[in-house]
Amino acid sequence: MRIDIITVLPELLKSPFEASILKRAIEANLVSVHFHNLRDYTTDNYKSIDDTQFGGGAGMVMMIEPIDKCISKLQSERDYNEIIYMTPDGEQLNQSIANQISLKENIIILCGHYKGVDQRVRDKFITKEISIGDYVLSGGELGAAVLCDAVIRLIPGVLGNETSALTDSFQDNLLAPPIYTRPREYKGMKVPEVLFSGNFPEIEKWREEQAYQRTKDRRPDLLEE
Ligand code: ADE
Repeated sequence: MRIDIITVLPELLKSPFEASILKRAIEANLVSVHFHNLRDYTTDNYKSIDDTQFGGGAGMVMMIEPIDKCISKLQSERDYNEIIYMTPDGEQLNQSIANQISLKENIIILCGHYKGVDQRVRDKFITKEISIGDYVLSGGELGAAVLCDAVIRLIPGVLGNETSALTDSFQDNLLAPPIYTRPREYKGMKVPEVLFSGNFPEIEKWREEQAYQRTKDRRPDLLEE
């Protein structure tokens, strides 16, 4: 998978890709991530990427021209399956969207700033608009990092244990069950006996019940879907 990220703040975005699972995925060539600074596609001396709104109103709007130049250059080099715009009024990111995106070969992610981009960018180029939650961030960069993390860990081979993404919370619309490790007892707090039974069907049954109960208590909306 190849991910091209268009941003005015590439520096803000780089560090999540320089550690742990994302770093290993890049080193193993399972994914490549490329940053494009929108200011490199400007034509004036001030490297302007935004301007005031037509019709008046507070806040600047990102102009179409630098974005068009950047996206068109990328599209002249390869085909893209998806051009995603990070925006608080997009579809809310969930596991199912992350699963779908993880199957794509080439994607572009455009990070918004200020009030957002000129509507014509959305009409002409964008195939998917994603929000990471009902709150407004100062820009799309942190949202893009969240999206990339959720997607990249699903690419086959990225997680050491292939089954581990499949047992995450939200796969099957259930939260994950409680988990334990050594010591077996800590300050009087004991690990449930069933986990030492060696009876794997029994353990699996317990985990399913716990996952169901936790989902019912915390996220009943998931069970309705
Ligand atoms: N940009 C600003 N706020 C955002 C959000 N909640 N999700 C995605 N991109 C954003």
